[in-house]
Amino acid sequence: MKKIVVLTGAGISAESGLKTFRDSGGLWEGYDVMQVASIQGWRENPELVLKFYNERRAAALNAKPNAGHLALKKLEEKFKVIVITQNVDELHEQAGSSNIIHLHGEINKARSSVDENFIVELKKPWQIKIGDKCPKGSQLRPHIVWFGEQVPMMETAMNECLTADIFMVVGTSLVVYPAASLINYIPRFSTVYLIDPNIPPVEGIKNLRKIPEKASVGVPIAVKEIMK
Ligand code: APR
Repeated sequence: MKKIVVLTGAGISAESGLKTFRDSGGLWEGYDVMQVASIQGWRENPELVLKFYNERRAAALNAKPNAGHLALKKLEEKFKVIVITQNVDELHEQAGSSNIIHLHGEINKARSSVDENFIVELKKPWQIKIGDKCPKGSQLRPHIVWFGEQVPMMETAMNECLTADIFMVVGTSLVVYPAASLINYIPRFSTVYLIDPNIPPVEGIKNLRKIPEKASVGVPIAVKEIMK
């Protein structure tokens, strides 16, 4: 069975009502990224960081997968599909994708700030507050990979890319590393699909198919082509 690896970013969830980061009106226009999404920011102002992610979680709770997420599930009828997502929402899970690697964490989970292996699923009211602690007595934090932190799932993701027959990149500006480097691990003759209304610049790809569309339109187009 041929293998398709898909790298997704905030753009695939945009039509589900979740803001992207770097588009006009995106999250990093309203917030200082280093204040709310870095380990330094957490040390300096944990209240602000918790507020930012509590808001993200509230938005994600109301979101539903769109035609882009759903089309990726359809690929599983004929292919082995691995979804590597930079997104912290659960829309790929809700769409039914079977193999999902969350590179940057998951919004619906919290973890201990001293023991990275202590991870809990959040339940109603879905918020982390100052004073919510792990069994070792340390403050709970969002289960998110921040700037300045290692990306623990990167090696697993790289290994999947090394054996991809087809690679799809959907809705990411490809500016955040190491995630953006995954495209360099794809075998030389694999076909790469880029689906984004603003196609990000990539170099050195032999078989490149650009689809300058929103995810809800572009992913079904790519899936139809691939399934033929
Ligand atoms: N369909 C597809 N793509 C879209 C859509 C849409 N409807 N709307 C916007 N896009 C594209 C934009 O053109 C852009 O290329 O989605 C991309 C969003 O880019 P970013 O906002 O930079 O998001 P992303 O690439 O996921 O960011 C990577 O940065 O701060 C972090 O940790 C955060 O995981 C995130 C990482």
